[in-house]
Amino acid sequence: MYETLVVEKEGKIAIVKINRPDKLNALNSKVIEELELVFSGLKNDPEVLVIILTGVGEKAFSAGADISGFPELDPIKAKEFALKGQRVFSLVENLGKPVIAAVNGYALGGGCELAMACTIRIASENAKFGQPEVNLGIIPGYGGTQRLPRLVGKGRALELILTGRTIDAQEAYSIGLVSKVVPLDKLMEEARSLANLLLTKGPIALKLAIEAVNRGLEVSLEEGLRIEADLFGLSCATEDQKEGARAFLEKRKPEFKGR
Ligand code: COA
Repeated sequence: MYETLVVEKEGKIAIVKINRPDKLNALNSKVIEELELVFSGLKNDPEVLVIILTGVGEKAFSAGADISGFPELDPIKAKEFALKGQRVFSLVENLGKPVIAAVNGYALGGGCELAMACTIRIASENAKFGQPEVNLGIIPGYGGTQRLPRLVGKGRALELILTGRTIDAQEAYSIGLVSKVVPLDKLMEEARSLANLLLTKGPIALKLAIEAVNRGLEVSLEEGLRIEADLFGLSCATEDQKEGARAFLEKRKPEFKGR
């Protein structure tokens, strides 16, 4: 039981919802702590292969870090605050399992940063994205200055971060911040259908693909290609690789075991 999250399991899919709708699912220290706890558990849970992350209610995925604690921040506390959130978001990014952000409303500041740490983002038509920190006299501290340019390019990221402008779901789609936009009442259906599609793939292949992309983006092309070759080699050490090839040749659907 969590104070600030709702966690449900549907077969091999876990659905994690941030549950502070009266505060637009703002991320206070309890939410960050519980996200760390839940995602650490899901990382090691062999029964769960895909995660959907969303917000309770129809208004917000998360309106960002909880501003009520900001007046007390001093430089040392603020650095710890940033490092803690960054650690939890990096856990989500490198979970070894796909995490689908189903963005059901505001994803501002830390909410946008959390969505960006997820593997794939889909949004409802009413979703809104932005990094409004400059309006509070601060800069993003949960990865926004790093993940936003990696996702949408330096120019667009700087424009969004420096203006603090909020963009709608269509604009987020047009700059590549989200992969798909659907009506709000179809969002979870779409997220489940994507999760179910991912469940038909080899889980180790998904894990290694995520690792190849995440690590590869941080190094030179030459090094990234080497990482890819190494992980490609590793993927061929699995039973799933044999099954995938055999199933294709036998014209049937593969039955991946995650081994
Ligand atoms: N931290 C703490 N509380 C927040 C919050 C945040 N990031 N975002 C919203 N809330 C709270 C509001 O204070 C309000 O609480 P109250 O009812 O006790 O007064 C409640 O959530 C509802 O928000 P409200 O502002 O009344 O809703 P709105 O529809 O008028 O506006 C937003 C929605 C998202 C535009 C507005 O809430 C907002 O600008 N939030 C802050 C976004 C932000 O700067 N995030 C980055 C933080 S670094």
